[in-house]
Amino acid sequence: MSALPPADPRLSIAVIGLGSIGGAAAGCLAASGRYDVIACTRQPLARLTLEAPHGTVEVPLAAYTDPAQIKNPADWVLLCTKTHQTESAAPWLTRLCARSTRVAVLQNGIGHVERVAPFVGGAAMVPAIVYYNGERLAPDRVRMRQGADPDIAVPDDAAGRAFAALFAGTPLRVALNDDFATLAWRKLLINAVANPITTLTLQRQAVLRRPDVQELCGKILDEAVAVARAEGVRLAEDEPARAMATLFTFSGELGTSMYFDRLAGRRLEVEALTGAIVRAGERHGIATPLNRALLILLRAINDAMPDGLR
Ligand SMILES: NC(=O)c1ccc[n+]([C@@H]2O[C@H](COP(=O)([O-])OP(=O)(O)OC[C@H]3O[C@@H](n4cnc5c(N)ncnc54)[C@H](OP(=O)(O)O)[C@@H]3O)[C@@H](O)[C@H]2O)c1
Repeated sequence: MSALPPADPRLSIAVIGLGSIGGAAAGCLAASGRYDVIACTRQPLARLTLEAPHGTVEVPLAAYTDPAQIKNPADWVLLCTKTHQTESAAPWLTRLCARSTRVAVLQNGIGHVERVAPFVGGAAMVPAIVYYNGERLAPDRVRMRQGADPDIAVPDDAAGRAFAALFAGTPLRVALNDDFATLAWRKLLINAVANPITTLTLQRQAVLRRPDVQELCGKILDEAVAVARAEGVRLAEDEPARAMATLFTFSGELGTSMYFDRLAGRRLEVEALTGAIVRAGERHGIATPLNRALLILLRAINDAMPDGLR
């Protein structure tokens, strides 16, 4: 990690989506007392309580529920919705972004910049990989769990360094990395097995330890790794085994976000994970039959949800 420059005084930071990830990020930034944090939500919010490893804090927030209430562009925007909610957040981005604004995308998957760039009017963008765990306990209460350093990884460029500076002195540890694509694919590999398998079996991560499921996961990962390599991503020879080893460091009692979304009857974040692998395979003429089968089944779950589900 490079040395961090001091943060600018009283920057305005708008956080779109005060869910598990956005709530934790907004809570950490607001608790620093250094920024004007603006919450862009779908439900009114007077305050936010963050339960974090270092303690529980209650922070005041300026919260808006209608993009028309935004009068000025923000210095920073943190987009923290699920990937399939990006388009619905476009009215917020339009109001909040000027050319001087920086937009960080805290979402899973790959192609963060391509997904969000159409809505930010030329603002500089920071794709971010999130490693911390967030859990929304109530609309105004979020629990944050931290694992190994870092909590967030961003590219080692000017915008990435500015993003890291924002969080300097907060509990969230941001790492700069000069091979962001590899990190994004490594995270995608983990998500590409853990999320679909737990969601389709409706079992927590212990199901991944079954020998037959492990074998299936290995084959799903082999397909994804072949696609990633065709995309020019530098993955290790034993990447599938590494991904499984990482998964086995997590407790079998843990669920996954897709599993919890299915239990809650929420739309599944399918296209940015398994969908991204299948589409990249198509671009490179690489067959991905197992990932395609998972995609069909997950889409069928999404399509069976009542209209209007978010
Ligand atoms: N949770 C984790 O531990 C974790 C870890 C790593 C990466 N990620 C990734 O981080 C991203 C965010 O996930 P999450 O777990 O934080 O999801 P989440 O808990 O579902 O939060 C998403 C939030 O976005 C809000 N939202 C959706 N559309 C909106 C709109 N148009 N305007 C304003 N707010 C809107 C939702 O509002 P409502 O409350 O109205 O639904 C919700 O509060 C995902 O890509 C996920 O895969 C999550």
